[in-house]
Amino acid sequence: MVEQHSCCSCCFSFIITMGLTALFFWLSLRVDQPKFYLESIYVPALNRSLPSTTKNDTVLFKIKFTNPNKDKGIKYDAVRVNISVFLSQNTTRLLSNSTAVAPFYQGRQKKAHKPSSASFVGNLTPAAGMDGKVYFRVDFATAVKYKILFWYTKRHGMWGGANVEINNGGVKVYPKPVRLGNEPPRIVNGAPEFRGGYRALLPLFLVAWIMRTH
Ligand SMILES: *[C@@H]1O[C@H](CO)[C@@H](O)[C@H](O)[C@H]1NC(C)=O
Ligand SMILES: *[C@@H]1O[C@H](CO)[C@@H](O)[C@H](O)[C@H]1NC(C)=O
Ligand SMILES: *[C@@H]1O[C@H](CO)[C@@H](O)[C@H](O)[C@H]1NC(C)=O
Ligand SMILES: *[C@@H]1O[C@H](CO)[C@@H](O)[C@H](O)[C@H]1NC(C)=O
Ligand SMILES: *[C@@H]1O[C@H](CO)[C@@H](O)[C@H](O)[C@H]1NC(C)=O
Repeated sequence: MVEQHSCCSCCFSFIITMGLTALFFWLSLRVDQPKFYLESIYVPALNRSLPSTTKNDTVLFKIKFTNPNKDKGIKYDAVRVNISVFLSQNTTRLLSNSTAVAPFYQGRQKKAHKPSSASFVGNLTPAAGMDGKVYFRVDFATAVKYKILFWYTKRHGMWGGANVEINNGGVKVYPKPVRLGNEPPRIVNGAPEFRGGYRALLPLFLVAWIMRTH
């Protein structure tokens, strides 16, 4: 009887230990994906303060990378970036495709700001049907590996993009970094400028909607 009891408690503590070990591994293998932002973009060809005779086919931009993981580093492959201009609300013309950022390693909970530039062909007069506004589409693609203790995970492909309105100064209208996420390449009137505040406003919309429907 006594023997059986000790065997049972031994078995029980074995199960607990295995459970905790499994939980520990699960927690340490879980990863949060990095976030990508278009921090700034400057298109001298659209800067109206410059004499229109100076032709400049450069686009200067900066991408921000954030690693949200408390205990995992991230190794990025080369980051490819496509820049396009909207010809209508749902069609774009590719201006440039470039390898914007060379492969790099980012420590845990770090931010990286990587400037880059690309050159394009053709001119950038506002397309008919865009109400005189100029919108760019910026897409990126890369792959990442996470560093867990001393090991790297396998590669995970990542991509995303955003639509950004460019003003007469040749810079983006929305002043804050724009998340390169899963926004479709389609201009919805007024939408891009309000993206940043959308989440904060959501509860208000909900309240307004509930009050309307009651
Ligand atoms: C646009 O051009 C003007 C005139 O050269 C210059 O002062 C300004 O800094 C330029 N804008 C940007 C964002 O560089
Ligand atoms: C284009 O504009 C950028 C940024 O102002 C400048 O660094 C570059 O020299 C210009 N290129 C030409 C050909 O004017
Ligand atoms: C693009 O938008 C036009 C009108 O703005 C619409 O007629 C057309 O079906 C759209 N095309 C696609 C592929 O969504
Ligand atoms: C990338 O751009 C270069 C030069 O503009 C062009 O020759 C090439 O076809 C483009 N590649 C793709 C996949 O669009
Ligand atoms: C850039 O455009 C080319 C041609 O459309 C496409 O094959 C490539 O996947 C695009 N790259 C990115 C980073 O979106």
